[in-house]
Amino acid sequence: MRWSSGPVAVVGLGYVGLPTALALLSAGRSVIGLDTDPARLAAVRAGTADLLPEDRARLRAHAASPAFTLTAEPAALAGAGSVVICVPTPVDGHRVPAPGALRAACAAAVRHASPGQILVLASTSWVGTTRELLIEPLAARGLAVAQDVFVACAPERIDPGNADHPQHTTPRVVGGATPECGRRAAALLEPVADRVHVVGSPEAAELTKLLENTFRAVNIALVNEFATIAGHLDLDITEVVDAAATKPYGFLPFRPGPGAGGHCIPCDPHYLLWQLRAARVPAPLVDTAMAALAARPHQVARRARDVLAAHGVPVPGARVLIAGVAYKPGVADHRESPALRVIEDLAAAGADVAYTDPLIPSLRVNGRTLRHREDPAAEHWDLVVVHTAHPGHDLAWIEGRGPVLDATYRLDSVKERYLV
Ligand SMILES: NC(=O)c1ccc[n+]([C@@H]2O[C@H](COP(=O)([O-])OP(=O)(O)OC[C@H]3O[C@@H](n4cnc5c(N)ncnc54)[C@H](O)[C@@H]3O)[C@@H](O)[C@H]2O)c1
Repeated sequence: MRWSSGPVAVVGLGYVGLPTALALLSAGRSVIGLDTDPARLAAVRAGTADLLPEDRARLRAHAASPAFTLTAEPAALAGAGSVVICVPTPVDGHRVPAPGALRAACAAAVRHASPGQILVLASTSWVGTTRELLIEPLAARGLAVAQDVFVACAPERIDPGNADHPQHTTPRVVGGATPECGRRAAALLEPVADRVHVVGSPEAAELTKLLENTFRAVNIALVNEFATIAGHLDLDITEVVDAAATKPYGFLPFRPGPGAGGHCIPCDPHYLLWQLRAARVPAPLVDTAMAALAARPHQVARRARDVLAAHGVPVPGARVLIAGVAYKPGVADHRESPALRVIEDLAAAGADVAYTDPLIPSLRVNGRTLRHREDPAAEHWDLVVVHTAHPGHDLAWIEGRGPVLDATYRLDSVKERYLV
C-alpha cells in the first residue's frame, strides 16, 4: 500500500465543487479543478462564479495560483492523490433521476484511479451509488478497496447563498467502504468541514443525505398545506408558525412559499423514490409530499388569476410582474425554480408576464427569452407576484401600485396584499 499526498482533484466546479476546491486551496492543498463545461472553467478563471462574499475573495486569491490547475481533461485525475466528485444529480422532465453526469464522472475517476488514491463521492444520489459506481468498478479494474485505493461517500450539505451556515461550520457525514477508508476521507475533508461525523458505511451516508432533504421536502409541503388551511379559516399562517416555534422541542419552523426549487429538495427525494419503486417498496408520505411540492406553483398561478379576476382584469393581456425568479433569496440560480412554472401557467392563460431579478439577467421559459426589468417601478402592472425577495433588492416601490400576491409570506406591511 502506498499513501499518496498529491493534489486533490475536485470533479465538477459548481455550487458544491468550487467552494470545496477553495477551502482545500486555503488550507494549502494543491487542487486540480476538473469540469467538462468550458464556460464554467472560464467563469472560475475570471472569478465571476456565483459565490458567497468570503468565497469570492478566496477565488480572487486563488484563481491564478499555480496550486490551482483548471482542466476539462479527465486524464488529469491520474495525477491526483485524492478525488472528490461533486457533479450534478438532476431529474428529467418526468421527475426521473438523470444520473448521466454522475455515471460519467465516476467512470472517469475509476478509469484514471491510481494506487494510494482516496475517492470521495460528494454528490447526492440513491443508496448504493458509491458501491455500484466506484467500489465495484475499482475492484473490477484490480484496485482493491482499502488496500490499493480508499473510497467513501461524504454527501455535501452546503446551503449556497446562506452566510449563516458556511460550508465549514456544517458537520460533514462520512461513510467509508471500511473504517480506514472513512478515516482517510475524514482527514481529507478536514479543511472543508470543522467537524466530521463518521457513519459505518457509504450507504448510511447516502441515506442520511436523502433523509435530510426528504425531511425538508415533507415539511415544506406540510407548511404550504397549513397556509392553505389558515387561509380558509381566515387566520395568519405566519402568526401560527411563530407561535408554534415558541415550543422548545418537537417543532421546527418551516415557512410557506411558492414551492421548492434548486438542485436538492425537488430532486433528491426522487432518487430515493426511484430506487424504492424498483424494489416495490412504497413510500406514500414522500410521494405525496413531492407531488404537493410540484403542484404548488400551479396553485400560485391559479391564485394570481383569481386576484386579477377579483380586480376586474381579464387574464388575457393582463400585465403581471414576477418579482424574484431565483429559487431562493441570495442566489443566482433558477434551476427548478417554481417561478418558471408560474410564468408558464400565466403565459399559457394569455397574461403578459415579465420579471425583475437583479441576480438573473435573462430567463428561458417555454422557448422564449425573458429579460430582467431593471426599473419595474416605471411601468404599469395589473399584478405583482413576489416570488423571491433577495437581500438588498428594494421592493418598497410595489406599495400603492395595485394588488400584490405575496408568495413569500414575508411582506406583511404591504396593504393590498394577497396570499396564495
Ligand atoms: N447546490 C446545492 O445547494 C447543493 C447542496 C448540497 C448538495 N448538492 C449536491 O451536490 C452535487 C453537485 O451539485 P451542484 O449544485 O454543485 O451542481 P452544479 O450544477 O452547480 O455543478 C456541477 C458542475 O459539474 C460539472 N460537470 C458535469 N458533469 C461533469 C463531469 N462528468 N466531469 C466533470 N465535471 C462535470 C458541470 O459542468 C458543473 O459545473 C449534486 O448531487 C447536488 O444534489 C448540491
